[in-house]
Order: sequence, then structure tokens, then C-alpha cells
Amino acid sequence: MKGIILAGGSGTRLYPLTKAISKQMLPIYDKPMIYYPLATLMKSNIREILIISTPRDIGSYKELLGDGSRFGISLSYKIQAKPKGIADAFIVGKQFIGKSSVALILGDNVFYGEKLNSILQRVVKRKKGATIFGYGVKDPTHYGVVGFDNKSNVVSIEEKPKNPKSNFAVPGLYFYDNNVISVAENIQPSNRNELEITDVNRVYMEQNKLKVEILEEGISWFDTGTYQGLLNAANFVETIQKEQRIYIACIEEIAYKKGYINKHQLLKLAESMIKTEYGQYLKNILER
Ligand code: TTP
Repeated sequence: MKGIILAGGSGTRLYPLTKAISKQMLPIYDKPMIYYPLATLMKSNIREILIISTPRDIGSYKELLGDGSRFGISLSYKIQAKPKGIADAFIVGKQFIGKSSVALILGDNVFYGEKLNSILQRVVKRKKGATIFGYGVKDPTHYGVVGFDNKSNVVSIEEKPKNPKSNFAVPGLYFYDNNVISVAENIQPSNRNELEITDVNRVYMEQNKLKVEILEEGISWFDTGTYQGLLNAANFVETIQKEQRIYIACIEEIAYKKGYINKHQLLKLAESMIKTEYGQYLKNILER
């Protein structure tokens, strides 16, 4: 399976922060936001990843992450000329996806939890259909929302409903078979003139090919597209890192533990930022 990180958009809910820089380049505590979705894909054992961003911002992502070889993965880049919607990722990424299945993660979504890793590694192996997630929230009206019947089958999926049929919001992480390209090519833009991911998911649901995995206790999800979300995620990362002495979204550590890079390569990455606690943490991994 291949992976796409969607890191474009307009970021208007974060103005003036994002007037001159890309949202996914903003810090979440000690790392650029894009590290978090990248780590989630790497934890899913996905090593071939496309980063999609705006004509203005694509260059900064290339500068930050390069071709991925430092982390033992392959990164490529593609421009989305206009923010035409989340489902446009499959049209922009058509060539990259080729005949493969594909995971899409939004660049402003932060996931964390030990339990999540085993779920991801199971989901990534599914050959057919689509898998999305449900995460219980207090106010689901800002999100895609899934509704269930009394046997836990998904029976509805609605974008930003005024009267939501459940409290389960759909976070920005989706897994699809190769049909997703033609599904995305055949949906119509919505009233806000975007190709909606909810419409893609509805097509899979109507074909009985949509699975929804509920993310339960012990798994955290943050949408960092608002000031509050950004601050909540940063506070969470700081607390876990300081109290549990483990790093969240440490792509260098993940690469090393998965065997994508060796000790020598990890040491080089550590030394390039040795003045920081982050660099020290990487060095300590080698001494453990
Ligand atoms: P949103 O947060 O829905 O949109 P946005 O980033 O444009 O922000 P705002 O509502 O504040 O103006 O987008 C979710 C994620 O998907 C985010 O990481 C940006 C990305 N995205 C794109 O890359 N291209 C798009 O066409 C859209 C709609 C979103």
C-alpha cells in the first residue's frame, strides 16, 4: 500500500498564523505538524509516500524532508494548483498510486496511542474496499459523521450535519483499494465547490464495501486546524514526552525501530540536532 499526505489547503481558520506559511509546517510542540501524519503512515508500514501541497509551499516540504532516504522511506511531491477538496488527492495522485491501494492522511491530523498501531497494521493488509474510522466527539457537527443501525452496520455518512445521527466523527485517515481513483473521478463537486471525501466514502458504503473501525479508549485524535486544536495537541505532546519519556511522531526512531535505517544513520540524524532534547533523545536510543 502507498500513502498520501494532503498538506495544502488554505488554512483560513488559523489566520494570521497561516497567511504566509503552510499550516502543516507550524510547530506542534517540538516538530513540524507534518511529522505527525508522516509518523502515522510509517507506523502503518507504508514506505512509499506522496506529499501534496500548494504551488507556494511544496518547496518547503522538499527542503524539510527531502527524498525520504534519510528515514529509509521514499517521498515524492506533487502540487495541487487549487484547494479543490480532499478527494482531489486521488486525482492529483493518480500516477503515483498506479495500480496500488492507498492510504490518505490529512496533514493536520494527529493520532496517538499504542493500541492504534495494531489497528493500522491490520487495516493496511485489507485488499478490498475502504476502511475509515469513527472517533467519539462532543460536537460532531464540524466533521463527517457516521450513523449506525442496531447491528453496528454503517447506514449513513454525512458531511457537517446539523442533526448528527451519532457522535462519531470521521478523522482524516482513510484506506482504500485502487477503485478510489475512479470513484473520485466520478463524484461531483459539492455546494462549497470541493470534491468531498464524504462523497467518496458514501459510494463505498452504498456498495457495501465500507468498514468503520471505532477508535476507543487509549487512542487520541486531534484536528489541529484551529488555534484550540493546535494548542491542545502541543500540550498533549509535551505532557506525554516529559512524563512518559517517549517521543510522539519521532520519525527517526520509527525508521530505526522498523529497520529502515541502521545505527550509523540514526547517529547522524541525532548529531544534526544534538543541541536539542530531541537530538539527545535519538542518541540515547542507541545507548539503551
Ligand atoms: P481543511 O482544514 O478542511 O481546510 P484548510 O486547510 O483549507 O483550512 P481552513 O478551513 O482553515 O481554510 O483541510 C484539511 C486538510 O486537508 C488540511 O491539512 C489541508 C488539506 N487540504 C488540501 O491539501 N487540499 C484541499 O483542497 C483541502 C480542502 C484540504
